[in-house]
Amino acid sequence: MEHQINSWEEYEKVYAESVANPEAFWANVAESFSWKKKWDNVLSWNFDGPDVKWFEGAELNITENCLDRHLAERGDQTAIIWEPNGPKTPEIRLTYKELHAKVCQMANVLKSYGVVKGDRVCLYMPMIPELAIATLACARIGAIHSVVFAGFSANALADRINDAQAKVVLTADGSLRGAKVIPLKDIADEALSHCPCVETVLVAKRSDKFCHMQAGRDVWLGEAMDAASTDCPAETMSAEDMLFILYTSGSTGKPKGVVHTTAGYMVYAYYSFVNVFQYQQNDIYWCTADIGWITGHTYIVYGPLLAGASSVMFEGVPTWPDAGRFWAICDKYQVNQFYTAPTAIRALMAKGLEYVAPYRLNSLKVLGSVGEPINEEAWQWYNKYIGKNQCPIVDTWWQTETGGIMISPLPNITPLKPTYATRPLPGIQPCLLDAEGNELAENDVEGLLAVKFPWPSMLRTTYGDHDRCKQVYFSMFKDKYFTGDGAKRDADGNYRIIGRVDDVINVSGHRLGTAELENVINEHDIIVESAVVGYPHEIKGQGIFAFVIVQEACSQEALEAELKELINTEIGPIAKPDRIQVVSGLPKTRSGKIMRRILRKIASGDVSNLGDTSTLLDPSVVEEIKEAVLGTA
Ligand code: WT7
Repeated sequence: MEHQINSWEEYEKVYAESVANPEAFWANVAESFSWKKKWDNVLSWNFDGPDVKWFEGAELNITENCLDRHLAERGDQTAIIWEPNGPKTPEIRLTYKELHAKVCQMANVLKSYGVVKGDRVCLYMPMIPELAIATLACARIGAIHSVVFAGFSANALADRINDAQAKVVLTADGSLRGAKVIPLKDIADEALSHCPCVETVLVAKRSDKFCHMQAGRDVWLGEAMDAASTDCPAETMSAEDMLFILYTSGSTGKPKGVVHTTAGYMVYAYYSFVNVFQYQQNDIYWCTADIGWITGHTYIVYGPLLAGASSVMFEGVPTWPDAGRFWAICDKYQVNQFYTAPTAIRALMAKGLEYVAPYRLNSLKVLGSVGEPINEEAWQWYNKYIGKNQCPIVDTWWQTETGGIMISPLPNITPLKPTYATRPLPGIQPCLLDAEGNELAENDVEGLLAVKFPWPSMLRTTYGDHDRCKQVYFSMFKDKYFTGDGAKRDADGNYRIIGRVDDVINVSGHRLGTAELENVINEHDIIVESAVVGYPHEIKGQGIFAFVIVQEACSQEALEAELKELINTEIGPIAKPDRIQVVSGLPKTRSGKIMRRILRKIASGDVSNLGDTSTLLDPSVVEEIKEAVLGTA
């Protein structure tokens, strides 16, 4: 594959070049795409705005690069293998030609409902082929997609639809998850009653569930697609035109819409995909993520298709019909590169080796990990029982905001070190800072992880609120993008990501803001105040621990049930607290700030050294909380 690095010497050389002359480096990568018009200027930037532009003046359509460009050479090659929820249901294979035709049909459907370049379209769908097709159909006509993970609640969906002012929503009658059928359209309907901006709802048929169709608004997607032409010219997009919005949680307020633009995202999605997975012609690649997250955007949809790869898309869950499903699928399609999350590895590890034993797993060449730090035990298990000590593990660190993988080993090239994401990809310039923002230039240091130079797929803004983007990512340290993570760099220059240093927690690889959770909990009548922290959880990585002050005595059981239900409706099942502890006070400083550091320690069961508590307004609450938690632990 073009621009693939083949050896450690080459990595070192290419990396050095990419830093010495980033513009020449990225222009060279960009040359291999199909452009309607080439760029006038490779890069202009300042992190004060922030104002970052890559390939300014260029015109293109990303779907021509994902689809049309491949038709002559590999039109009949499989682009997507869709593995349905039920293991006995036949799979669907879409060749590049077929995918192209379907994308055009769906693009024409969107057009027929008045969607034009720049409009926002919200996709609230299960992991069915229509989701990948819809993503590309939006890009085909220059509409901005906002995919909302189908596990989010009606309220969370409504917030996202309204924030983006989406004109059209795509959904399905139901979503099949293991033995369950989730009435997706009903949930969408509930959200839509709060979304006056939505004119049309396109509904894919996936279950036998009855669903209400509102006349004049709701349309069956399948029928509309069948009637549409398979030809749809690709809209001409400028390099910096918005490609998509993806909502993610931060340390304050409501989730923000991270904005990615067209050309830079495309170049980096391709480059990172072919290098991190060392994809070779005819390989079968599988990323288990949901397209509702950035991992699915970049490494199910865009990256693999830009590379002309054959990739698996899985509708179901890892533990159904049993905990061997992932491995069954690896064998069934002879998967070569497998990319999943530590939380899934830990969950399957806990089920026992009898679910791995029946499978050969002999096609695997590369194993990937993403979403949270992978602990040593999970790393070793993955390496030994899945990779049979033959497959390098790429521990890939990145974020919704970075658009693509930033720090990762290159398989069979970078020396591996368990729990280390190791080295930055070419073109990526990470640095570690102390609390004052001084760069820790030496090795063998620990600090705050930042990036000091732009890369093509970085976020450009947060939708509708540029100032928020500036505040959150670019104001902490001058001329640096701040990631929110802490990291260590060993004596050899390898990075190890420690985790978030802000009030963001990572539950099963899903990002949640503690403030976001507290806001919901505080809505409950009986709650006076709350503080949420993360604590180590064996399977989820982090669990959610909520400390709450209540107005009047109540039963623990009822309180837990009600708070969980509330969070379920406001955000979704992924955000349900694991522990709820009633307390009579919270540890606050004299200025009223909750000292989460103390709560985090207590929640983790470690009360040996709570640090300096002298600045607390009332140090005695700490004793009380300690007793309450350890007493109920
Ligand atoms: C946060 C970003 C990027 C896709 C999935 C998550 C954590 C991500 C790793 C890793 C340690 C990791 C970080 C980061 N994270 N990958 N390999 N090792 N931590 O995207 O939801 O935007 O979350 O996930 O804390 O900041 P996201």
